[in-house]
Amino acid sequence: MRFTALFAVASATISAVSASTLDFSSISLQSLLGGIDVSSGNKYGAPKAPWIAGSTPGWYFGSSPSKFKTLPCLSGIICAILELFPDCLHCPSAPPTTPSPSDGYAQTFSNLTGATQASDYMTYGLVDTVAQCKAMCNSVNGCNFVNTYHDVNGKGGSTQLTCSLFTSCHTSADADNMGGQTQPDGTVDYITNSDGWCKQ
Ligand SMILES: *[C@@H]1O[C@H](CO)[C@@H](O)[C@H](O)[C@H]1NC(C)=O
Repeated sequence: MRFTALFAVASATISAVSASTLDFSSISLQSLLGGIDVSSGNKYGAPKAPWIAGSTPGWYFGSSPSKFKTLPCLSGIICAILELFPDCLHCPSAPPTTPSPSDGYAQTFSNLTGATQASDYMTYGLVDTVAQCKAMCNSVNGCNFVNTYHDVNGKGGSTQLTCSLFTSCHTSADADNMGGQTQPDGTVDYITNSDGWCKQ
């Protein structure tokens, strides 16, 4: 009797382990995050790149999570839950509050009116600061480049910085997403303060 119970527990454990990690994480996490799939296969919640009409950011990392109730906010209990799932978004460690000259990134362009548009797009979200965007890149496997910018009139009017991540470094040559998408309220978005940072 005792053996049978133990055997049942053991087989349940084995079948859970042998189920694909990805399926397991996207199903359980999606239900925990209100239907949002933050696995790497879904571009960490932002399957449509920012230059695609109708795209929305996948996550928010910053100090005002209460302003972004519809996005997974990378703070609090969510971080502990995400830690349980290897192939998905994770909370970065908090970046230093004073920018350091040796944060591991070199700037490739600054203050452009175009955002990076390239096929090695990984994910994008919203942040408060450039340092937070670099911290996000450090927490995503394979990320080597961050592009931060203001998408004026875009992203539902959010004034936060957009933070897009890529696997390869880019120069101003690929910063050719100028916005131009008509928003639900009839305004057209445009890009300001676009900066590129290559991980060293
Ligand atoms: C960035 O560019 C805008 C014009 O596009 C300019 O008004 C602003 O002063 C620039 N900012 C910096 C920090 O150079």
